[in-house]
Amino acid sequence: MKREPLLSARGLQAGYGASQILFGIDLDIEPGQIVTLMGRNGMGKSTTIKTLIGALGLRNGDIRFAGQSTAKLRADAIARMGMAIVPEGRQCFPNLTVREHLVAFADNRNGQSDAWTLDRICELFPRLAERAQNMGNQLSGGEQQMLAIGRALSTNPRLLILDEATEGLAPVIRDEIWRCLNLLKAAGQTILVVDKYVEKLIELADHHFILERGQVVWQGSSAELDGDRGLWARYLGV
Ligand SMILES: Nc1ncnc2c1ncn2[C@@H]1O[C@H](COP(=O)(O)OP(=O)(O)O)[C@@H](O)[C@H]1O
Ligand SMILES: [Mg+2]
Repeated sequence: MKREPLLSARGLQAGYGASQILFGIDLDIEPGQIVTLMGRNGMGKSTTIKTLIGALGLRNGDIRFAGQSTAKLRADAIARMGMAIVPEGRQCFPNLTVREHLVAFADNRNGQSDAWTLDRICELFPRLAERAQNMGNQLSGGEQQMLAIGRALSTNPRLLILDEATEGLAPVIRDEIWRCLNLLKAAGQTILVVDKYVEKLIELADHHFILERGQVVWQGSSAELDGDRGLWARYLGV
């Protein structure tokens, strides 16, 4: 028997005021999968994510997450069901210490034995352990990004969503983020990732969705995406 996907979106329509941005997005994420959303700037990736997490109202369609429709739920209720986001632009609290970020939101609602405790997050990102007593506004961009990921993990999410997590980071720091995502994958974490490094995403992820003007124009495996450079040129601008 086929398992139900962890997340299943059907016919998502959403937008801002008078402008409709999403025109019927369908996507499935299976437990343990790493799935990407790709597409050029302005194609609706962040809008899709905002709709999935309940930050932006669903105008039409349905979203099922962990066996339940979330279409009528508020963002806080969806978050408590186990969806955590690392939003665009990081967004750490300037006046909380690193340690406070990692304990303030901590949760283990799903009762995992291998939960993301403060210690495990610090093992994943040793930099955060070194900076435990520093304030959010004393961190470098890369450290802020690690902290944003650590904070999302501290809620022990069923689904971790990263929106442009490597944006604006130095290559060595980007590699640190990719290393961490590979470790999360090995630990079985389900992840939805938006990023623009196609080669890295092909290595990391299982399945990909390409968006063009608020619609899914292609989806497939890493091998399929790797084998079709025409797609890259046409939809990804690389
Ligand atoms: N808060 C907003 N208000 C109005 N339009 C927005 C807002 N955020 C994004 N948009 C528009 O929605 C479209 C999709 O944006 P977005 O989902 O952020 O794209 P992507 O993440 O793929 O770069 C763009 O045309 C963008 O200008
Ligand atoms: Mg975006």
